[in-house]
Amino acid sequence: MSTDQEIKDMVKQKYSEIALQDKTENQSSCCGSGCCSTEVYNIMSDDYTALNGYNADADLGLGCGLPTEFAKIKSGDTVIDLGSGAGNDCFIARHETGESGKVIGIDFTPAMIEKARQNTAVRGFNNVEFRLGDIEKMPVTSNACDVVVSNCVLNLVPNKNNVFKEIFRVLKPGGHFSISDVVLDGNLPGGIQQAAEMYAGCVSGAIQKQRYLELIAENGFSNIKIQKEKTIVIPDDILSGYLSSEEIHSFKNTGTGIYSITVYAEKPATGAACCAPGCCD
Ligand SMILES: C[S@@+](CC[C@H](N)C(=O)[O-])C[C@H]1O[C@@H](n2cnc3c(N)ncnc32)[C@H](O)[C@@H]1O
Repeated sequence: MSTDQEIKDMVKQKYSEIALQDKTENQSSCCGSGCCSTEVYNIMSDDYTALNGYNADADLGLGCGLPTEFAKIKSGDTVIDLGSGAGNDCFIARHETGESGKVIGIDFTPAMIEKARQNTAVRGFNNVEFRLGDIEKMPVTSNACDVVVSNCVLNLVPNKNNVFKEIFRVLKPGGHFSISDVVLDGNLPGGIQQAAEMYAGCVSGAIQKQRYLELIAENGFSNIKIQKEKTIVIPDDILSGYLSSEEIHSFKNTGTGIYSITVYAEKPATGAACCAPGCCD
């Protein structure tokens, strides 16, 4: 059994390697981890190219949704992107905030931060900033932003409750988030649960959809909505790397679902301006 720190070190190592690859190389992987075929990549990721602000250098093909499309970002907003990678969602968000807003990307992989900063410098943007840090303990002051976005990241974090607690802390009262992530309905077979590649590939770190939504509610958020949901099917050629043909057959019969969801929630505008539920008592 790995500790949370060992899991994070493994994830950081994988994404350090991925930061040095381009989108074409990552297209042969799910979440770019090298674990899955093109088919899974296509199922998990959405096409960013039509979005305003799209920056091909920042698109490593690592997402599982389009959170910025659903995030209701307004001109002048301050936006934080959790697990910002090479900056893909940050540059889309910047288009929405305009020059008067600000975008902060947070990622714990130094090579990703380096790549994102290069992408920013090349374009001369002065209102997009990338901070090295763990989203379980964000390098951001409380009540700092209007909107939080994130794309295919929370599944990689061992303690998702800490992340929702931190999101509540950094959002201004009345602020909101739109987060795309992978969740489950049912159990994964042991062979997938134990595979490091499947964890880094955004599959086996996912938790039950119901529990995910409960964590959001338990941290004080309101108006929780699933804005988009799609099923992710892992093809047999990938499953066969981890499961026997009998295990694949029985997994398919369990009815377990793997989903990409984009979920929205709000930090209440009043009576919750300090940090989290209970902290003002
Ligand atoms: C699947 S990639 C997604 C990158 C980006 N959101 C995108 O869509 O292109 C996951 C990113 O989350 C980062 N990450 C994972 N766990 C993290 C944590 N606890 N704190 C900060 N960043 C984390 C990884 O370094 C990686 O860059």
